[in-house]
Amino acid sequence: MKVMLTGGKGMLGRTLVKELAEFEVVATDLPEADITDETGFEKFLQTVKPDVVIHCAAMTAVDKCESQIDLAYKLNAEGTANVARACYKNHVRLIAISTDYVFEGSSEKPYSELDPATGGNTVYGKSKFAGEEAVRSFCPNHVIARISWLYGAGGPSFVHAMMSLADGSRPELKVVADQIGNPTSTTAVARMLRNILNRPELCGTFHMTCEGEASWYDFALEIFRLAGKNQKVIPCTTEEFPRPAPRPKNSRLDKMMLHLNGLPAMPHWQDALKEFMASEFDR
Ligand SMILES: NC(=O)c1ccc[n+]([C@@H]2O[C@H](COP(=O)([O-])OP(=O)(O)OC[C@H]3O[C@@H](n4cnc5c(N)ncnc54)[C@H](OP(=O)(O)O)[C@@H]3O)[C@@H](O)[C@H]2O)c1
Repeated sequence: MKVMLTGGKGMLGRTLVKELAEFEVVATDLPEADITDETGFEKFLQTVKPDVVIHCAAMTAVDKCESQIDLAYKLNAEGTANVARACYKNHVRLIAISTDYVFEGSSEKPYSELDPATGGNTVYGKSKFAGEEAVRSFCPNHVIARISWLYGAGGPSFVHAMMSLADGSRPELKVVADQIGNPTSTTAVARMLRNILNRPELCGTFHMTCEGEASWYDFALEIFRLAGKNQKVIPCTTEEFPRPAPRPKNSRLDKMMLHLNGLPAMPHWQDALKEFMASEFDR
């Protein structure tokens, strides 16, 4: 099976290349496969002739999206629509990567795939949701994989940020304790995408985050515990850390569709983090 990646040089794309080695993976990125150039992208797709596209390319800098609204929509909405149309016209299955930010984040419960998404309160979330809707409209043979709190080899990620902040120069670090989510490794996502690739009949929206839940504060404590770092961490509130894009209070995703389709559970976030810390920092 030939699998073409968009955004193949990004954090998730790089892990997919490594983890999906049993497939013929063609990792594309800028400049050769610009998703904002509809004609150019389709021509490129026609030369690669993949069976499946895993669409990772996006504008992922959440705060930057608030000030560069046109660019966010150009990439995350129009770019994704271009990929979806090209896949449909060329009979290619599309796996599009999306995010927990499509939800507003005020629910007390984890969000399932059946909960209505609106794009939430950020330009990033709204532009990614517009991208999801384009995938649903233009390419029926699709899987939308929503992931969150992502970290992977090379970063950038919360794990990398914490590790560089804990360089011994700060007596204490304040970390937000009133937002909860599912920290998720790119490796865990890649392994689940392998299952999805091997099940061509699957279609629709799937939540694909690690099991268990944590606040950023819990996540930081676990990073430092695994790294053997004696860094003092102080819990703080969202209000103490104002950001251009408001962060969802509740980013937890329920994996109902994985269960309903007989797919294995995602690993617990602490197990996935342990595996990652050993490979990324224990050198
Ligand atoms: N990172 C997270 O925490 C997170 C959480 C939830 C969901 N996601 C989703 O997961 C997916 C992968 O995220 P990631 O963290 O791997 O992203 P990333 O590291 O930012 O990678 C995105 C890649 O897309 C490329 N790209 C940008 N504009 C492009 C264009 N016009 N045409 C083709 N490629 C373009 C980027 O190139 P440049 O670097 O040159 O711009 C980069 O290599 C995205 O869909 C994202 O929305 C990420």
